[in-house]
Order: sequence, then C-alpha cells, then structure tokens
Amino acid sequence: MNAPVRTQSSADSSVQSSDPARRSSAELIRAEEPVLAHNYHPLPVVVARAEGTWVEDVEGRRYLDMLAGYSALNFGHRHPALIEAAHRQLDRLTLTSRAFHNDRLAEFAEGVAALTGLDMVLPMNTGAEAVESAVKVARKWAYDVKGVPDDRATIVVAADNFHGRTTTIVSFSTDPTARTGFGPFTPGFRVVPYNDLAALEAAVDETTAAVLIEPIQGEAGVIIPDQGYLAGVRELTRRTGCLFIADEIQSGLGRTGRTLAVEHEGVLPDLVLLGKALGGGIVPVSAVVGRRDVLGVLRPGEHGSTFGGNPLAAAVGSAVVELLGTGEFQRRATELGTVLADGLTALLGRGVLGFRARGLWAGVDIDPVFGTGRGISERLMAEGVLVKDTHGSTIRLAPPLTITAEELRSALGALEKVLAHGA
Ligand SMILES: Cc1ncc(COP(=O)(O)O)c(C=O)c1O
Repeated sequence: MNAPVRTQSSADSSVQSSDPARRSSAELIRAEEPVLAHNYHPLPVVVARAEGTWVEDVEGRRYLDMLAGYSALNFGHRHPALIEAAHRQLDRLTLTSRAFHNDRLAEFAEGVAALTGLDMVLPMNTGAEAVESAVKVARKWAYDVKGVPDDRATIVVAADNFHGRTTTIVSFSTDPTARTGFGPFTPGFRVVPYNDLAALEAAVDETTAAVLIEPIQGEAGVIIPDQGYLAGVRELTRRTGCLFIADEIQSGLGRTGRTLAVEHEGVLPDLVLLGKALGGGIVPVSAVVGRRDVLGVLRPGEHGSTFGGNPLAAAVGSAVVELLGTGEFQRRATELGTVLADGLTALLGRGVLGFRARGLWAGVDIDPVFGTGRGISERLMAEGVLVKDTHGSTIRLAPPLTITAEELRSALGALEKVLAHGA
C-alpha cells in the first residue's frame, strides 16, 4: 500500500497551524491520558473522518479499515442508505421510550424476525445487554415452562467465550484479564471446552435452561468449530429439552457469507443474539430474537430499556435489514473471502504460522519471531492499514463487506511487506 498521505486537493495545511482549536493526533492522545479511563490500549491513530472502507486521521493520513468496528461497520463507514435513513428519522422523531409505541418499531421487529426465520424480537442497545437479556429470558423460560425449581437454573457456556463485559457476563468468562478484580461473580453457569459435544452432553442436566455459544469465537481469534458441532448442539439441546442460544453479535449479519453463521450448518437456534452491525455503525442496536414460546415468557415490567427500540435505532436497523435482504453483502463476503484466504495461504511459512477464515473474517497467527500481534498492527498502521491484535500473536481481519478485491489485495500486500521486513 502506498504511503497514506492525503491528496493535494484535500490536504489542509491549516489543520494544525491556523486553527488553534484543532489539536494534532499526538496532542489529542496526550490529552486523553489524564481524563479518560484506561480500559483500552488503542493504536496511536486519531480518526477524524471516514467513508466506505477508508478512515482519515486528524492530519489527513488515510487508512484502510480492516477491523470495521469489530464488525459493527459491516456496510462500511457512512453507507449512504443508512445515513439517509438516520437523517430522515432525525428530522422526525428520535425517542419515545417504550412507555409509548413508536411508528418505526413494528417494521423493525417484522424485518429482523423475517431475516432470521424466528418469531419475536426484544430490542436492546449493546451486545452485552442482548446477552444479559437472553440469560434472563432463558432462566424465566426454565422456571415457567421447563419447571426447573426456583433459583436452580444453569446455563452452559464455552471456554474462551467472549459475550461482553457486565458483571454477570464476566462471571462465565475464562479470561483472567476480564475477571480478575471484578468478583463476586454471578452463579448459575457451567463452562465446558468449545467444540466438544461430549463435554457439553456431560454438563447438561435437568436444571439446564440453555446452552449459550458463539457459532464462531471471534475474540478468541476467529475459532471455527468442526463441521457438525453446531448441528450437534442443536440436536443435543432439542433432545435434552434446553434452549440453544447463538451469540451472533459478531459472526452474524453477513460477516461469514451468510446472514447468520449458524446457517453454515443449516440450524436455527431458539434464541439468536444480534448487535454491532444491526446499528449500521451509526447507533447501538442489539436484539434478542427468538421463538414465540420462549421470548413470550416476558411480561410487562419484567425487563426493559429506555433506549431499546427507539425510533432512530429502529429506522437504522430496518435499513440494515433491507440491505441484508438483497443478499449482496453475504455474496461479497463469500466471494472476497476466497481472495482473503488465498492471500493468507500465500503467507504461510513467511511470517504467518496459520490462520482461520470464514467469509471476510480471519484470525491470523503471526510467527512470534516476526513480532507480537500489537507490533505487527503498529507496523501495518504505518503502511496505512488498521487491524487489531488479540491474544498475543494473533491479528484479526474483518474489513467492511463493501471492500473491493483490489483494496483487499493491497491490505494483504501490506501484511506481506511488514512480515518481509520484520523477519
Ligand atoms: C460475540 C460477542 N458478544 C457480545 C459482545 C459484546 O458487545 P458490546 O461490546 O456491544 O456490548 C461482543 C463484542 O465484541 C461479541 O463479540
């Protein structure tokens, strides 16, 4: 990739000099330090503008976004149809709370239900809220429908999961960084190894409300289970009378080449959790989507959210559903996924130890001799490509599904260059 310098026409030399209110990237990073909680360690890039697959920093340097907001930007930055839907709604109505109905929510729920093949929608805001909501729904279902004795319901989850950051969710995390210092933890969870049906079977008993898993474990490094695992989870949960909850917050909505990643095995869970891309990269929108006999257990007053299902979120979410309804993004993820996998295959043994990819989503294990995941990410940044490392020496690639083959090849070329210089 060429040096990420802004073109002459858009270069604005006054960015730092003639406008004292505008601070440089270095100044802004320094300014954050004393006033912003240190719960992230971002790459040293300060993004000021974005369009499609590209972001631009304060100084006008351009970068190809190969992270896409952890898949919240599946449709790229500021997709015109989504921006238009947001603008139109901003001019009309933004918030009602659920104390009243709003005229956008029915369309949103109908669209999400139809998109997933399920019946009902519980709209929330962030991914963690969708997970928390599903935990509550599963427990309520266990007591009201399955007949589990009060306060005895269990939920079986997988090791190395990532479902969010709330106290209940970190209670069933196996990542010491996510947990240490945040106890006491919420009881009622059993952890089994991922991709292990025998261990799952052994953990399920008459108290089990649900099995909660990611169809592909994103934060763990894009870990793809063996073919047959998801179908096995579906069969096991059906046979033993507990719910199958698929957290598709990162894997869903086109990323893997299907609307839902579970479609790769032709299964439909009882509850599907959506987030990230559902808000089009504009507003936080999440949802628990499920069968009527499961989500139907909630009664007025038992659960809620002031912003959940707000008209702006519903308008943007409906526009997202419409985009996915065309099938174009799922198709692009499948086709360009081949370019991604081919490019990574060519780097095997040349700094790449191995990789796992499905659609436009890859976890790439860098040979530690060539640098840490963070080090490689910083060097890619200098080449005008933004990625995110995870677990030491793995980097994740998840570009907007709008990326072109040429852009994708140039990002892979940048990785090749970085690895060639780093050996
Ligand atoms: C699979 C999965 N579930 C839940 C979450 C939490 O989403 P949020 O950060 O919006 O709370 C994430 C975030 O990365 C995720 O990848």
